[in-house]
Amino acid sequence: MRNCSRFAVISLALGAAATAPAQMTLKDAFRGAFRVGAALNEAQFTGRDARAAALVAAQFNTISPENVLKWERVHPRPGAYDFDLPDRYVDFGEQNHMFIVGHTLVWHSQTPRWVFEDGQGHPVDRATLLERMHEHIRTVVGRYKGRIGGWDVVNEALNDDGTLRQSPWLKIIGEDYLVKAFEFAHEADPQAELYYNDYSIENDAKRNGVVDLIRKLQAAGVLVAAIGVQGHDKMDWPSVELEDAAITTFARLGVKVNISELDIDVLPRATAQTSADVAITANSQASLNPYPNGLPDAVQQALAQRYADLFGVFLKHRGEIGRVTFWGVADGDSWLNNWPVRGRTSYPLLFDRQDRPKPAFDAVIRLAGQPKGLSR
Ligand code: GLA
Repeated sequence: MRNCSRFAVISLALGAAATAPAQMTLKDAFRGAFRVGAALNEAQFTGRDARAAALVAAQFNTISPENVLKWERVHPRPGAYDFDLPDRYVDFGEQNHMFIVGHTLVWHSQTPRWVFEDGQGHPVDRATLLERMHEHIRTVVGRYKGRIGGWDVVNEALNDDGTLRQSPWLKIIGEDYLVKAFEFAHEADPQAELYYNDYSIENDAKRNGVVDLIRKLQAAGVLVAAIGVQGHDKMDWPSVELEDAAITTFARLGVKVNISELDIDVLPRATAQTSADVAITANSQASLNPYPNGLPDAVQQALAQRYADLFGVFLKHRGEIGRVTFWGVADGDSWLNNWPVRGRTSYPLLFDRQDRPKPAFDAVIRLAGQPKGLSR
């Protein structure tokens, strides 16, 4: 694989002696390369979790909303919008001079059933669903015009084989629902960056599906600013070569690449897939939750090396990557404590359950300072 040797040289001494300078932050370490962000829950952006809010303000220069801008939360019933928490999310970002992301407008999940149904529970027709989509996007994007800088317009439209997912959006509107969603978002805020966001799109078939999809959108005159590579990663997937190839392929489309939901699952796989489909569930068993009382040092160090390897790829593509956003701030907040198995103790992020930086944090900070990192 081309440029493979560049990864080989980014191997780190992760021993205790090589700790990063305590004052260095993620946003400063990668300034000039890409923004670094986190998805926030409401305790963080309202300041109820004051320690986490301070950590976010210190470390990150972009934020995403974990849940409060999903359709079921912001628009739970016809004509009823709840902007209380989204307003506070946007206020928090502005107060801290951050690039604010909106997530997500059109998705098959966490969208109430009424959106797709009439009063009798039958599917609505194309015109009705298009009008609902239009009204939702106009209202939500319009409210934060000039304040939210980029939107995940469509989330997870593809199957793992690269074909279009048979979502209610596709079934009722047809393939052009994607073009329409981007057009409505552009109309509501012409300055906002518009993104397509999905998981496992490093894999060949799905990667090809993304390429086809973006080309079709571009042919229809849609301006896609970036592809969001969610980055719900495992210790052994994607390989650095696969990650590198995916970013290269996407950047060739003339769009930016955002690593939009990064985390690395160190727990045993409960299913064979690399999918991050939120609908997947698996039964709980002790063997799937091996570290309830803390992460063994060897795993901690392996996670640090894994993060360093991935950030090596991101830095190589610094001109093509807009931001790297973690899906959560500290390990205790992560969705991976409850997915796909409920009640596990997961360790996927850079900060531990007490909001302290982990060896993985030191590893990525140190990488930014290496000759092969920022100062090339
Ligand atoms: C997907 C969605 C996110 C979030 C994560 C898991 O990746 O895009 O909004 O739900 O799953 O929490």
